[in-house]
Amino acid sequence: MKIEIVESSQIPEGGCTVIPVFEKDFSILSEPLAKAAQLSGFKGEQDETLFLVESAVILVGVESILHDLLRSAAAAAIKVLKSAGFKNAGTVFEDKTPSFSLFQAFAQGALLGDYAFDFYLSQKSDHNLETLYIGAQDSIVMQARREVEKAVTIAESVNFVRDIINKTPDDITPAKLAALALEVAESNGLESVIMDEQQLEEQNMGAFLAVSRASAHAPRLIHLAYKPENAKTKVALVGKGLTYDSGGLSLKSSEWMVTMKSDKSGASAVLGIIKAVSELGLPIEVHAIIGASENMIGGNAYKPDDVLVAKNGKTIEVRNTDAEGRLVLADCLCYAQEVVQPDYLLDYATLTGACVVALGQYTTGLMGHNDSLKIAMQEASERSGELTGILPFNRYLKKLIKSEVADVCNIGSARYGGAITAALFLDHFIEEDYKHKWLHLDIAGPAYVEKSWGYNPHGASGAGVRMSVAWLESLLDEES
Ligand code: BES
Ligand code: ZN
Ligand code: ZN
Repeated sequence: MKIEIVESSQIPEGGCTVIPVFEKDFSILSEPLAKAAQLSGFKGEQDETLFLVESAVILVGVESILHDLLRSAAAAAIKVLKSAGFKNAGTVFEDKTPSFSLFQAFAQGALLGDYAFDFYLSQKSDHNLETLYIGAQDSIVMQARREVEKAVTIAESVNFVRDIINKTPDDITPAKLAALALEVAESNGLESVIMDEQQLEEQNMGAFLAVSRASAHAPRLIHLAYKPENAKTKVALVGKGLTYDSGGLSLKSSEWMVTMKSDKSGASAVLGIIKAVSELGLPIEVHAIIGASENMIGGNAYKPDDVLVAKNGKTIEVRNTDAEGRLVLADCLCYAQEVVQPDYLLDYATLTGACVVALGQYTTGLMGHNDSLKIAMQEASERSGELTGILPFNRYLKKLIKSEVADVCNIGSARYGGAITAALFLDHFIEEDYKHKWLHLDIAGPAYVEKSWGYNPHGASGAGVRMSVAWLESLLDEES
Protein backbone atom coordinates (compact mmCIF):
# COMPACT_ATOMS: atom_id res chain seq x y z
CA MET A 1 0.00 0.00 0.00
CA LYS A 2 1.21 3.48 -0.89
CA ILE A 3 0.55 6.46 1.34
CA GLU A 4 0.11 9.82 -0.37
CA ILE A 5 -0.26 13.18 1.29
CA VAL A 6 -2.33 15.48 -0.89
CA GLU A 7 -4.26 18.68 -0.55
CA SER A 8 -7.66 17.59 0.79
CA SER A 9 -9.56 18.53 -2.38
CA GLN A 10 -7.14 16.42 -4.45
CA ILE A 11 -8.17 13.08 -2.95
CA PRO A 12 -9.39 11.15 -6.01
CA GLU A 13 -13.03 10.24 -6.15
CA GLY A 14 -14.27 6.70 -6.27
CA GLY A 15 -12.54 5.46 -3.15
CA CYS A 16 -13.79 5.30 0.37
CA THR A 17 -13.36 8.08 2.92
CA VAL A 18 -12.13 7.26 6.40
CA ILE A 19 -13.13 9.74 9.08
CA PRO A 20 -11.56 9.39 12.54
CA VAL A 21 -14.04 10.47 15.20
CA PHE A 22 -12.01 11.74 18.17
CA GLU A 23 -13.36 11.68 21.72
CA LYS A 24 -16.89 10.78 20.59
CA ASP A 25 -17.23 14.25 19.14
CA PHE A 26 -19.84 13.79 16.43
CA SER A 27 -20.16 17.50 15.79
CA ILE A 28 -17.36 17.25 13.24
CA LEU A 29 -19.60 15.13 11.00
CA SER A 30 -21.95 16.47 8.39
CA GLU A 31 -25.57 16.23 9.43
CA PRO A 32 -26.46 13.19 7.29
CA LEU A 33 -23.37 11.31 8.52
CA ALA A 34 -24.06 12.18 12.15
CA LYS A 35 -27.62 10.98 11.71
CA ALA A 36 -26.55 7.73 10.06
CA ALA A 37 -24.06 7.15 12.87
CA GLN A 38 -26.73 7.70 15.47
CA LEU A 39 -29.24 5.44 13.73
CA SER A 40 -26.81 2.59 13.47
CA GLY A 41 -25.77 2.83 17.12
CA PHE A 42 -22.17 3.88 16.41
CA LYS A 43 -20.74 5.18 19.67
CA GLY A 44 -17.25 6.16 18.60
CA GLU A 45 -15.53 3.75 20.99
CA GLN A 46 -11.84 3.08 20.37
CA ASP A 47 -11.38 1.07 17.13
CA GLU A 48 -15.14 0.85 16.60
CA THR A 49 -15.90 1.17 12.90
CA LEU A 50 -19.00 1.98 10.93
CA PHE A 51 -19.08 1.40 7.20
CA LEU A 52 -21.70 3.55 5.52
CA VAL A 53 -21.98 1.77 2.22
CA GLU A 54 -24.03 4.31 0.31
CA SER A 55 -21.83 7.26 1.11
CA ALA A 56 -18.64 5.14 0.95
CA VAL A 57 -17.54 6.42 4.34
CA ILE A 58 -15.93 4.59 7.23
CA LEU A 59 -16.15 6.18 10.64
CA VAL A 60 -13.62 5.00 13.17
CA GLY A 61 -13.56 5.83 16.85
CA VAL A 62 -10.47 7.25 18.57
CA GLU A 63 -11.02 7.46 22.31
CA SER A 64 -8.65 10.39 22.84
CA ILE A 65 -6.02 12.25 20.84
CA LEU A 66 -3.21 9.87 21.63
CA HIS A 67 -0.94 8.77 18.83
CA ASP A 68 -1.06 5.12 19.63
CA LEU A 69 -4.85 5.12 19.72
CA LEU A 70 -4.85 6.75 16.29
CA ARG A 71 -2.45 4.05 15.00
CA SER A 72 -4.82 1.44 16.27
CA ALA A 73 -7.88 3.13 14.77
CA ALA A 74 -6.12 3.47 11.40
CA ALA A 75 -5.42 -0.26 11.44
CA ALA A 76 -9.06 -1.00 12.28
CA ALA A 77 -10.22 1.15 9.36
CA ILE A 78 -7.79 -0.58 6.97
CA LYS A 79 -9.29 -3.96 7.85
CA VAL A 80 -12.77 -2.75 6.93
CA LEU A 81 -11.50 -1.13 3.72
CA LYS A 82 -9.84 -4.36 2.67
CA SER A 83 -12.77 -6.58 3.43
CA ALA A 84 -15.04 -4.21 1.50
CA GLY A 85 -12.65 -4.58 -1.45
CA PHE A 86 -11.61 -0.93 -1.88
CA LYS A 87 -8.41 -0.26 -3.79
CA ASN A 88 -8.14 3.41 -2.83
CA ALA A 89 -9.15 5.38 0.21
CA GLY A 90 -8.77 8.87 1.55
CA THR A 91 -8.83 10.24 5.02
CA VAL A 92 -9.47 13.67 6.36
CA PHE A 93 -9.07 14.92 9.89
CA GLU A 94 -12.33 16.84 10.09
CA ASP A 95 -12.30 20.11 11.92
CA LYS A 96 -9.00 19.47 13.67
CA THR A 97 -5.68 21.01 12.83
CA PRO A 98 -3.67 17.86 12.90
CA SER A 99 -0.05 17.96 13.87
CA PHE A 100 2.43 16.17 11.63
CA SER A 101 2.83 13.56 14.30
CA LEU A 102 -0.86 12.69 13.97
CA PHE A 103 -0.40 12.24 10.22
CA GLN A 104 2.60 10.05 11.00
CA ALA A 105 0.67 7.97 13.49
CA PHE A 106 -2.21 7.44 11.09
CA ALA A 107 0.11 6.44 8.23
CA GLN A 108 2.08 4.10 10.46
CA GLY A 109 -1.01 2.48 11.93
CA ALA A 110 -2.38 1.96 8.43
CA LEU A 111 0.83 0.30 7.17
CA LEU A 112 1.30 -1.83 10.27
CA GLY A 113 -2.36 -2.82 10.25
CA ASP A 114 -2.28 -3.62 6.55
CA TYR A 115 0.43 -6.25 7.08
CA ALA A 116 -0.54 -9.85 6.46
CA PHE A 117 1.85 -12.79 6.30
CA ASP A 118 0.70 -14.80 3.30
CA PHE A 119 4.07 -16.18 2.17
CA TYR A 120 3.04 -19.82 2.64
CA LEU A 121 -0.55 -19.49 1.45
CA SER A 122 -1.27 -21.00 -1.95
CA GLN A 123 -4.23 -18.67 -2.33
CA LYS A 124 -3.36 -15.11 -1.48
CA SER A 125 -6.06 -12.55 -0.83
CA ASP A 126 -6.72 -10.13 -3.66
CA HIS A 127 -8.19 -7.63 -1.22
CA ASN A 128 -5.26 -5.27 -1.38
CA LEU A 129 -5.36 -1.56 -0.83
CA GLU A 130 -3.25 0.26 -3.38
CA THR A 131 -3.22 3.84 -2.15
CA LEU A 132 -4.24 5.60 1.01
CA TYR A 133 -4.51 9.35 0.55
CA ILE A 134 -4.22 11.60 3.57
CA GLY A 135 -5.72 15.04 3.06
CA ALA A 136 -3.85 18.08 4.35
CA GLN A 137 -4.12 21.84 3.98
CA ASP A 138 -2.33 23.14 0.92
CA SER A 139 0.23 25.13 2.93
CA ILE A 140 1.54 22.13 4.84
CA VAL A 141 1.43 19.39 2.19
CA MET A 142 5.15 19.44 1.44
CA GLN A 143 6.26 19.27 5.06
CA ALA A 144 3.60 16.69 5.89
CA ARG A 145 4.94 14.55 3.05
CA ARG A 146 8.48 14.65 4.41
CA GLU A 147 7.34 13.82 7.93
CA VAL A 148 5.09 10.98 6.83
CA GLU A 149 7.85 9.54 4.66
CA LYS A 150 9.91 8.96 7.83
CA ALA A 151 7.04 7.16 9.53
CA VAL A 152 6.57 5.04 6.40
CA THR A 153 10.26 4.09 6.34
CA ILE A 154 10.04 2.90 9.93
CA ALA A 155 6.78 0.99 9.39
CA GLU A 156 8.24 -0.72 6.32
CA SER A 157 11.23 -1.83 8.38
CA VAL A 158 8.88 -3.22 11.01
CA ASN A 159 7.04 -5.20 8.32
CA PHE A 160 10.36 -6.41 6.93
CA VAL A 161 11.27 -7.68 10.40
CA ARG A 162 7.89 -9.37 10.79
CA ASP A 163 8.44 -11.24 7.52
CA ILE A 164 11.79 -12.64 8.64
CA ILE A 165 10.47 -13.79 12.01
CA ASN A 166 7.35 -15.37 10.53
CA LYS A 167 9.37 -17.50 8.12
CA THR A 168 10.11 -21.08 9.08
CA PRO A 169 13.38 -22.39 10.54
CA ASP A 170 14.11 -24.11 7.23
CA ASP A 171 13.68 -20.90 5.29
CA ILE A 172 15.73 -18.81 7.73
CA THR A 173 18.75 -20.84 8.76
CA PRO A 174 21.82 -19.01 10.10
CA ALA A 175 23.37 -19.05 6.62
CA LYS A 176 20.17 -17.78 5.01
CA LEU A 177 19.85 -15.05 7.63
CA ALA A 178 23.41 -14.02 6.78
CA ALA A 179 22.53 -13.93 3.07
CA LEU A 180 19.53 -11.75 3.84
CA ALA A 181 21.67 -9.43 5.94
CA LEU A 182 24.10 -9.13 3.04
CA GLU A 183 21.21 -8.09 0.79
CA VAL A 184 20.32 -5.33 3.25
CA ALA A 185 23.99 -4.30 3.38
CA GLU A 186 24.19 -4.23 -0.41
CA SER A 187 21.06 -2.17 -0.95
CA ASN A 188 21.72 0.26 1.94
CA GLY A 189 25.46 0.77 1.51
CA LEU A 190 26.46 -0.90 4.77
CA GLU A 191 29.74 -2.56 5.63
CA SER A 192 29.45 -6.26 6.39
CA VAL A 193 31.38 -9.12 7.93
CA ILE A 194 30.05 -12.67 8.11
CA MET A 195 31.93 -15.19 10.25
CA ASP A 196 31.56 -18.95 9.91
CA GLU A 197 32.23 -21.70 12.44
CA GLN A 198 35.96 -21.70 11.91
CA GLN A 199 36.18 -17.96 12.43
CA LEU A 200 34.11 -18.27 15.60
CA GLU A 201 36.69 -20.78 16.82
CA GLU A 202 39.46 -18.34 16.04
CA GLN A 203 37.54 -15.78 18.09
CA ASN A 204 37.36 -18.23 21.04
CA MET A 205 33.58 -18.07 21.09
CA GLY A 206 33.20 -21.30 23.06
CA ALA A 207 29.71 -20.54 24.35
CA PHE A 208 28.20 -19.57 20.97
CA LEU A 209 29.83 -22.63 19.33
CA ALA A 210 28.57 -25.07 21.97
CA VAL A 211 24.95 -24.00 21.44
CA SER A 212 25.32 -24.42 17.68
CA ARG A 213 27.12 -27.77 17.73
CA ALA A 214 24.28 -30.25 17.24
CA SER A 215 22.60 -28.42 14.39
CA ALA A 216 22.77 -29.41 10.74
CA HIS A 217 22.89 -25.67 10.05
CA ALA A 218 26.22 -24.12 10.94
CA PRO A 219 26.24 -20.85 12.91
CA ARG A 220 27.11 -17.40 11.61
CA LEU A 221 28.12 -14.19 13.29
CA ILE A 222 26.70 -11.36 11.24
CA HIS A 223 28.10 -7.85 11.61
CA LEU A 224 26.71 -4.95 9.59
CA ALA A 225 27.82 -1.37 10.03
CA TYR A 226 26.30 1.93 8.97
CA LYS A 227 28.99 4.59 9.11
CA PRO A 228 27.80 8.03 8.03
CA GLU A 229 30.54 10.65 7.73
CA ASN A 230 28.87 13.04 10.16
CA ALA A 231 28.24 10.48 12.91
CA LYS A 232 27.66 12.05 16.33
CA THR A 233 27.82 8.85 18.33
CA LYS A 234 28.43 5.12 17.93
CA VAL A 235 25.90 2.44 18.88
CA ALA A 236 26.23 -1.35 18.83
CA LEU A 237 23.05 -3.43 18.66
CA VAL A 238 23.42 -7.12 19.44
CA GLY A 239 20.61 -9.52 18.49
CA LYS A 240 19.81 -13.07 19.61
CA GLY A 241 19.38 -14.99 16.36
CA LEU A 242 18.24 -18.48 17.34
CA THR A 243 16.71 -19.58 14.05
CA TYR A 244 15.21 -22.39 16.10
CA ASP A 245 15.25 -23.17 19.81
CA SER A 246 14.27 -26.76 20.50
CA GLY A 247 15.73 -26.39 24.00
CA GLY A 248 18.61 -28.72 23.13
CA LEU A 249 19.05 -31.75 25.42
CA SER A 250 16.96 -29.90 28.04
CA LEU A 251 14.32 -30.37 25.37
CA LYS A 252 11.24 -28.18 25.38
CA SER A 253 7.86 -29.87 25.64
CA SER A 254 5.98 -30.01 22.35
CA GLU A 255 3.62 -27.32 23.57
CA TRP A 256 6.41 -24.84 24.32
CA MET A 257 8.47 -25.66 21.24
CA VAL A 258 5.88 -24.29 18.82
CA THR A 259 6.58 -20.61 18.03
CA MET A 260 10.32 -21.03 18.66
CA LYS A 261 10.99 -19.96 15.09
CA SER A 262 10.48 -16.56 16.71
CA ASP A 263 13.68 -16.95 18.74
CA LYS A 264 15.39 -14.99 15.98
CA SER A 265 13.34 -11.87 16.78
CA GLY A 266 16.20 -9.97 18.42
CA ALA A 267 18.38 -10.55 15.38
CA SER A 268 15.58 -9.54 13.04
CA ALA A 269 14.93 -6.38 15.08
CA VAL A 270 18.54 -5.20 14.87
CA LEU A 271 18.47 -5.80 11.10
CA GLY A 272 15.30 -3.72 10.89
CA ILE A 273 16.77 -0.93 13.01
CA ILE A 274 19.95 -0.60 10.94
CA LYS A 275 17.85 -0.72 7.77
CA ALA A 276 15.59 2.10 9.00
CA VAL A 277 18.41 4.23 10.38
CA SER A 278 20.41 4.00 7.17
CA GLU A 279 17.35 4.85 5.08
CA LEU A 280 16.54 7.81 7.32
CA GLY A 281 20.18 8.89 7.03
CA LEU A 282 20.53 9.54 10.77
CA PRO A 283 24.03 10.83 11.66
CA ILE A 284 24.76 7.94 14.04
CA GLU A 285 27.19 5.09 13.49
CA VAL A 286 25.19 1.91 14.03
CA HIS A 287 26.50 -1.63 14.20
CA ALA A 288 24.16 -4.64 14.05
CA ILE A 289 25.75 -7.79 15.44
CA ILE A 290 23.84 -11.04 15.24
CA GLY A 291 24.56 -14.41 16.77
CA ALA A 292 22.77 -16.76 14.36
CA SER A 293 22.53 -20.30 15.63
CA GLU A 294 20.18 -23.25 15.99
CA ASN A 295 19.74 -25.02 19.33
CA MET A 296 19.21 -28.71 18.53
CA ILE A 297 19.76 -32.20 19.90
CA GLY A 298 22.13 -34.95 18.76
CA GLY A 299 25.11 -37.06 19.76
CA ASN A 300 27.37 -34.04 19.65
CA ALA A 301 25.00 -31.69 21.45
CA TYR A 302 26.29 -29.61 24.35
CA LYS A 303 25.06 -30.89 27.68
CA PRO A 304 23.93 -29.90 31.12
CA ASP A 305 27.16 -30.34 33.19
CA ASP A 306 29.39 -28.96 30.44
CA VAL A 307 31.70 -26.11 31.33
CA LEU A 308 32.18 -23.67 28.45
CA VAL A 309 34.78 -20.98 27.97
CA ALA A 310 33.46 -17.71 26.54
CA LYS A 311 35.39 -15.25 24.41
CA ASN A 312 36.42 -13.17 27.45
CA GLY A 313 37.86 -16.28 29.12
CA LYS A 314 35.07 -16.67 31.69
CA THR A 315 33.92 -20.21 32.38
CA ILE A 316 30.22 -21.09 32.34
CA GLU A 317 28.56 -24.07 33.99
CA VAL A 318 25.69 -25.31 31.82
CA ARG A 319 22.81 -26.61 33.89
CA ASN A 320 20.13 -26.16 31.25
CA THR A 321 20.72 -26.17 27.50
CA ASP A 322 17.47 -24.26 26.97
CA ALA A 323 19.10 -21.17 28.49
CA GLU A 324 21.08 -20.92 25.25
CA GLY A 325 20.38 -17.34 24.15
CA ARG A 326 22.50 -15.87 26.93
CA LEU A 327 25.41 -18.10 25.85
CA VAL A 328 25.29 -16.87 22.26
CA LEU A 329 24.84 -13.28 23.43
CA ALA A 330 27.75 -13.56 25.90
CA ASP A 331 30.23 -14.07 23.06
CA CYS A 332 28.56 -11.52 20.79
CA LEU A 333 28.60 -8.88 23.54
CA CYS A 334 32.33 -9.51 24.09
CA TYR A 335 32.88 -9.16 20.35
CA ALA A 336 30.89 -5.89 20.20
CA GLN A 337 32.95 -4.31 23.01
CA GLU A 338 36.28 -5.48 21.61
CA VAL A 339 35.67 -4.73 17.94
CA VAL A 340 33.23 -1.80 17.91
CA GLN A 341 34.01 0.01 21.19
CA PRO A 342 30.61 1.69 21.11
CA ASP A 343 29.22 4.62 23.12
CA TYR A 344 26.06 2.58 23.68
CA LEU A 345 25.68 -1.19 23.72
CA LEU A 346 22.17 -2.60 23.44
CA ASP A 347 21.05 -6.20 23.15
CA TYR A 348 17.71 -7.51 21.93
CA ALA A 349 16.59 -11.03 22.76
CA THR A 350 13.60 -13.29 23.22
CA LEU A 351 15.52 -14.36 26.27
CA THR A 352 13.15 -15.62 28.95
CA GLY A 353 9.64 -16.89 29.49
CA ALA A 354 10.02 -15.32 32.93
CA CYS A 355 9.93 -11.85 31.37
CA VAL A 356 6.56 -12.69 29.83
CA VAL A 357 5.33 -13.88 33.22
CA ALA A 358 6.55 -10.66 34.83
CA LEU A 359 5.23 -8.12 32.34
CA GLY A 360 2.67 -9.90 30.19
CA GLN A 361 2.86 -10.60 26.49
CA TYR A 362 2.88 -7.08 25.15
CA THR A 363 5.70 -5.49 27.09
CA THR A 364 9.47 -5.48 26.61
CA GLY A 365 11.62 -5.81 29.73
CA LEU A 366 14.37 -3.20 30.08
CA MET A 367 17.36 -4.02 32.26
CA GLY A 368 20.77 -2.55 32.90
CA HIS A 369 22.84 -0.40 35.26
CA ASN A 370 22.12 3.00 33.74
CA ASP A 371 18.85 4.49 34.99
CA SER A 372 18.77 7.40 32.57
CA LEU A 373 19.38 5.06 29.62
CA LYS A 374 16.49 2.84 30.74
CA ILE A 375 14.24 5.87 31.18
CA ALA A 376 15.26 7.33 27.81
CA MET A 377 14.34 4.05 26.11
CA GLN A 378 11.08 3.86 28.03
CA GLU A 379 10.16 7.39 26.94
CA ALA A 380 11.07 6.51 23.35
CA SER A 381 8.84 3.45 23.58
CA GLU A 382 5.95 5.60 24.79
CA ARG A 383 6.41 8.01 21.87
CA SER A 384 6.56 5.20 19.37
CA GLY A 385 3.67 3.14 20.73
CA GLU A 386 5.67 0.23 22.17
CA LEU A 387 5.34 -0.93 25.75
CA THR A 388 8.26 -1.34 28.14
CA GLY A 389 8.73 -2.11 31.81
CA ILE A 390 11.92 -1.66 33.80
CA LEU A 391 12.99 -4.70 35.83
CA PRO A 392 15.42 -3.92 38.65
CA PHE A 393 18.64 -5.75 39.48
CA ASN A 394 19.48 -6.60 43.10
CA ARG A 395 22.38 -8.26 44.89
CA TYR A 396 20.36 -11.26 46.07
CA LEU A 397 19.34 -12.25 42.54
CA LYS A 398 22.96 -11.81 41.46
CA LYS A 399 23.98 -14.57 43.87
CA LEU A 400 21.57 -17.04 42.28
CA ILE A 401 23.80 -17.55 39.22
CA LYS A 402 26.91 -18.38 41.25
CA SER A 403 28.42 -21.72 40.30
CA GLU A 404 30.43 -24.17 42.41
CA VAL A 405 32.45 -25.35 39.41
CA ALA A 406 32.75 -22.36 37.08
CA ASP A 407 32.77 -18.55 37.09
CA VAL A 408 29.04 -18.38 36.50
CA CYS A 409 26.09 -20.69 35.94
CA ASN A 410 23.75 -20.35 32.95
CA ILE A 411 20.56 -20.57 35.06
CA GLY A 412 19.46 -19.21 38.43
CA SER A 413 19.18 -21.55 41.39
CA ALA A 414 15.72 -20.30 42.37
CA ARG A 415 12.43 -20.53 40.56
CA TYR A 416 11.70 -16.79 40.47
CA GLY A 417 13.24 -13.70 38.88
CA GLY A 418 14.36 -15.49 35.72
CA ALA A 419 14.31 -12.43 33.46
CA ILE A 420 16.62 -10.57 35.82
CA THR A 421 18.99 -13.47 36.51
CA ALA A 422 19.34 -13.90 32.73
CA ALA A 423 20.31 -10.23 32.41
CA LEU A 424 22.70 -10.58 35.37
CA PHE A 425 24.29 -13.49 33.54
CA LEU A 426 24.89 -11.20 30.53
CA ASP A 427 26.35 -8.64 32.93
CA HIS A 428 29.29 -11.03 33.47
CA PHE A 429 30.27 -10.33 29.87
CA ILE A 430 30.06 -6.55 30.08
CA GLU A 431 33.41 -4.93 30.85
CA GLU A 432 33.59 -2.28 33.58
CA ASP A 433 33.88 0.57 31.02
CA TYR A 434 30.67 -0.53 29.36
CA LYS A 435 28.43 -1.14 32.39
CA HIS A 436 26.72 2.23 32.00
CA LYS A 437 26.59 2.03 28.23
CA TRP A 438 24.68 -1.23 28.21
CA LEU A 439 20.92 -1.83 27.98
CA HIS A 440 19.28 -5.25 27.73
CA LEU A 441 15.88 -5.59 26.05
CA ASP A 442 14.02 -8.84 26.68
CA ILE A 443 11.42 -8.95 23.90
CA ALA A 444 10.19 -12.51 24.60
CA GLY A 445 6.65 -11.23 25.22
CA PRO A 446 5.80 -8.83 22.41
CA ALA A 447 8.03 -10.27 19.66
CA TYR A 448 5.56 -12.98 18.73
CA VAL A 449 1.95 -13.27 19.92
CA GLU A 450 -0.42 -15.81 18.45
CA LYS A 451 -3.35 -13.43 18.50
CA SER A 452 -3.64 -10.02 16.86
CA TRP A 453 -3.37 -7.01 19.18
CA GLY A 454 -4.02 -3.41 18.11
CA TYR A 455 -2.18 -2.89 14.84
CA ASN A 456 -0.07 -6.01 15.41
CA PRO A 457 -1.06 -9.17 13.58
CA HIS A 458 -1.04 -12.77 14.74
CA GLY A 459 2.64 -13.77 14.86
CA ALA A 460 5.59 -11.44 14.69
CA SER A 461 5.13 -7.80 15.71
CA GLY A 462 8.55 -6.33 14.94
CA ALA A 463 9.00 -5.37 18.60
CA GLY A 464 12.01 -3.20 19.34
CA VAL A 465 12.31 -1.41 16.01
CA ARG A 466 10.09 1.62 16.54
CA MET A 467 11.23 2.40 20.07
CA SER A 468 14.90 2.02 19.14
CA VAL A 469 14.65 4.35 16.17
CA ALA A 470 12.84 6.87 18.40
CA TRP A 471 15.58 6.47 21.04
CA LEU A 472 18.34 6.93 18.45
CA GLU A 473 16.61 10.09 17.21
CA SER A 474 16.52 11.36 20.79
CA LEU A 475 20.32 11.01 21.02
CA LEU A 476 20.53 13.63 18.29
CA ASP A 477 18.26 16.01 20.20
CA GLU A 478 20.62 15.75 23.18
CA GLU A 479 23.54 16.69 20.95
CA SER A 480 21.99 19.84 19.53
N1 BES B 1 13.80 -18.70 23.75
C1 BES B 1 13.51 -18.99 25.09
C2 BES B 1 12.69 -17.92 25.80
C3 BES B 1 11.29 -17.66 25.30
C4 BES B 1 10.23 -18.23 25.95
C5 BES B 1 11.07 -16.82 24.25
C6 BES B 1 8.95 -17.97 25.52
C7 BES B 1 9.78 -16.56 23.82
C8 BES B 1 8.71 -17.12 24.46
C9 BES B 1 14.80 -19.19 25.90
O1 BES B 1 15.88 -19.66 25.19
C10 BES B 1 14.47 -20.18 26.98
O2 BES B 1 14.12 -21.26 26.65
N2 BES B 1 14.58 -19.74 28.21
C11 BES B 1 14.28 -20.57 29.33
C12 BES B 1 15.29 -20.29 30.39
C13 BES B 1 15.27 -21.27 31.52
C14 BES B 1 15.75 -22.62 31.04
C15 BES B 1 16.16 -20.76 32.62
C16 BES B 1 12.87 -20.22 29.81
O3 BES B 1 12.50 -19.06 29.74
O4 BES B 1 12.15 -21.12 30.20
ZN1 ZN C 1 15.94 -21.80 25.09
ZN1 ZN D 1 15.90 -19.23 23.12
